[in-house]
Amino acid sequence: MTVHETRVAVVTGGNRGIGYAVCQQLAEAGYEVVLATRDADRGREAAVALGDRVTPVVLDVTDEASRKAVARWLSDGPGRVDVLVNNAGVHPDPGGYYGERHGASVFEAPVDYLRLAMATHVEGPMHLIQLLMPLMRSQGYGRIVNVASTLGQFDSLGGGWPGYRLSKIALNGLTALVAAELADEGTENILVNSVCPGWTRTDLGGPKAPRGPEAAADTIVWLATLPDDGPSGGFFQHRQRIPW
Ligand SMILES: NC(=O)c1ccc[n+]([C@@H]2O[C@H](COP(=O)([O-])OP(=O)(O)OC[C@H]3O[C@@H](n4cnc5c(N)ncnc54)[C@H](OP(=O)(O)O)[C@@H]3O)[C@@H](O)[C@H]2O)c1
Repeated sequence: MTVHETRVAVVTGGNRGIGYAVCQQLAEAGYEVVLATRDADRGREAAVALGDRVTPVVLDVTDEASRKAVARWLSDGPGRVDVLVNNAGVHPDPGGYYGERHGASVFEAPVDYLRLAMATHVEGPMHLIQLLMPLMRSQGYGRIVNVASTLGQFDSLGGGWPGYRLSKIALNGLTALVAAELADEGTENILVNSVCPGWTRTDLGGPKAPRGPEAAADTIVWLATLPDDGPSGGFFQHRQRIPW
C-alpha cells in the first residue's frame, strides 16, 4: 500500500511525551504518520523506533519557512493530509506545570513568556491549519485536534501561569473559530476539536503526574479518528465534552 492510499496524520512535537504516544497509536491504527519535530536527529530516532509507517519531518511550528516547507512536502509527496494534531507545546512560565510554586503572577510575568506560548500554541496551529486546509478541502475529509489544557479552561480559570493559560484559552478560541467558519460554509466532514489530555508524566507535566503518555493519547487519537457524524467545535477530556 502506498502513502497515497492510506490516511496521513501529521503530529507536531511527535518526538517525545504525549505526541510520541499519539504517533504510535495512529500508526497502530493504520495511518501513515508524519512525525513532525523541530530537531531532525530526535525526529529520526523516534520514527525509527516506531516503525515504517512513521516518517519524520523537521517542523518548528513557530517558524514560517519550516511550516511552509512541510506543507509543500505534504502536497508534493503524499498529496493528502487527513489528520492534523497540533500537539507541540511549551510551559514557559516559572514554576513549571503544577509546580510547587503557583507560577508567575499575572502582575509580574515577563511578556516574553506569553509571546513564546502564543507563538507555539496559537500562531503555529493557525498557520498550519491555513496551509493544510486546501488539501483537506480537496479530499472532503479532515480531522484537526488542538491539544489544549484545563489550565486554560475559562469555566474554572485559576491564577498563575499566564503564558500557558492565556495561550491555551486562545487555542480553544481557534478551535471554535475554525469550526464556526466550516459550519457557515457548509463543510461537514472536516471536524475540529480541542482536547485536554489530563495531567501527564512528561517533561512538561513532571514526574508526579498520575498518568502516562499512552493513556493521555487516548482522547486525542479518538478525536483524530472520529467518524463522519462525530462532533466538531468542542472541548473534550476522557472522551467527554467539557465546558470551555
Ligand atoms: N503533560 C501534561 O500534563 C499536559 C497536560 C495538558 C496539556 N498538555 C499539552 O500536551 C501537549 C504535549 O505535551 P507533553 O506533556 O507531551 O510535553 P513534552 O513532553 O514537553 O513535549 C513537548 C513537545 O513539543 C515540542 N515542541 C515545543 N515547541 C515546539 C516548536 N516550536 N515546534 C515544534 N515542536 C515543539 C517538543 O519538541 P522538542 O523535543 O524539540 O523540545 C516536544 O516534542 C502540549 O501541547 C501540552 O501543553 C500536557
